[in-house]
Amino acid sequence: MSTGTMKKSHSQWSSRMGFMLAAAGSAVGLGNIWKFPYMAGEMGGSAFVLTYLLFMFVIGLPILVLEWLIGRRGQKNPIHTMEDVAISEGRSKSWHWVGIIGVVGSFLILSFYSVIGGWATDYIVLSAQGTFEGAHGEVTGQIFDNFLGNVNHLLTWHTVFMFATASIVAMGVGAGLERACKIMMPGLGVLLLVLVGYAAYVSGPSFGKAFSFLFTPDWSAINGTAMLAALGHAFFSLSLGMGIMMAYGSYLGKDVNLLSTARTVVILDVIVAMLSGMAIFPLVFANGLQPGEGPGLIFVTLPIAFGNMAGGTVLGVLFFIFLTFAALTSSISLLEPTVELLEEKTPLGRKSATILSSLVIWALGIACLLAFNEWADVKLFGKNIFDLLDYLTSKIMLPLTGLGTVVFGAWMMNQKRIREELNLNDFWFSVWSVLTRYIVPVAVIIILIYGFL
Ligand code: PHE
Repeated sequence: MSTGTMKKSHSQWSSRMGFMLAAAGSAVGLGNIWKFPYMAGEMGGSAFVLTYLLFMFVIGLPILVLEWLIGRRGQKNPIHTMEDVAISEGRSKSWHWVGIIGVVGSFLILSFYSVIGGWATDYIVLSAQGTFEGAHGEVTGQIFDNFLGNVNHLLTWHTVFMFATASIVAMGVGAGLERACKIMMPGLGVLLLVLVGYAAYVSGPSFGKAFSFLFTPDWSAINGTAMLAALGHAFFSLSLGMGIMMAYGSYLGKDVNLLSTARTVVILDVIVAMLSGMAIFPLVFANGLQPGEGPGLIFVTLPIAFGNMAGGTVLGVLFFIFLTFAALTSSISLLEPTVELLEEKTPLGRKSATILSSLVIWALGIACLLAFNEWADVKLFGKNIFDLLDYLTSKIMLPLTGLGTVVFGAWMMNQKRIREELNLNDFWFSVWSVLTRYIVPVAVIIILIYGFL
């Protein structure tokens, strides 16, 4: 399907498919494969998982639609889009704060995202060297611990990952990455399926145990902390609350159906997370590992599978290549808002803007990386630097920006136009209104308050 009418002086996605790939590329990343399983493990499983699923559809999906809709109206970077759309709706231009907090959030997230992207990249090399051949739980745990303790090593790979991100952004996101994405994303999906199959095959009863750990409702485990974590992760995993989807919407043609596209992106995002969970937890239980292992979870569990299956070395290399690519398609979307802003607001050109912002993010990344070793005891509010940045962004900034977006979209904008744009009949328009005017904002406020008590 073509995106039809061209807007003057503003480029558009070449097709609905191209847009969907870019949006899915930003959404699917380390959040699904690295962060989701370890959070589920730390939060005790199903209560977190089911709440996250609910929030993805009830809260994430409407906000995703609104970010695209606002972006398509504004046709600019997130800050000026918010400002222009607010003015055209007769509202205060201070709504641009939603865009500003978003850009700051993307900047902070990228600093730790790049460190973990570096881990994934290094695991390509470690797998290729056959490091994991025949390895069991204790061995992979030991390898990971040594790896975390080696500052120079972590620094090298963080630098490599940040350099790759910056190079792609500096060149502009050309056909290369989009094409690579078309190959890498399905590849990642297939390999995840292979891993789930392998986990089912070797771990026997642990597979059932993993399934019920993730999906059998146990509401006693749900509390404010888990709910806030699930909410924050729904935002993180859909790349919401950072102006990123707003920026993507600004390149969108009028005839793209926002609701159905959003539904596809949310479903894809959820499927990748669930497959990762079902690939990882059977191995956790079968090998006597701890679900609450933390950020190292996938780096300790998946190598066990690769180390012991036929052709595992090759599959391991492929898996970590795909993972690195999934991370890159997200990290470039995280760098873009800062670069775009510097380019527009300072005399810097695209290249210098990219270099400057990457250097600052890289330096902040070093502080995160030290949190895993030499600065492990440096704590603020009881959290090390990595945890603090994650907390500040996922649990405070993203929900706040998301709240700003939904309040703006549902209360400040002309609802009749939105209804036409989303092509809703009476029934679905009432559902949409109740959801965006009451349920979503009230839920986000309650969870924020409840989460901090
Ligand atoms: N959604 C990406 C992931 O799941 C991470 C991301 C967050 C990307 C915020 C862009 C913005 O890995």
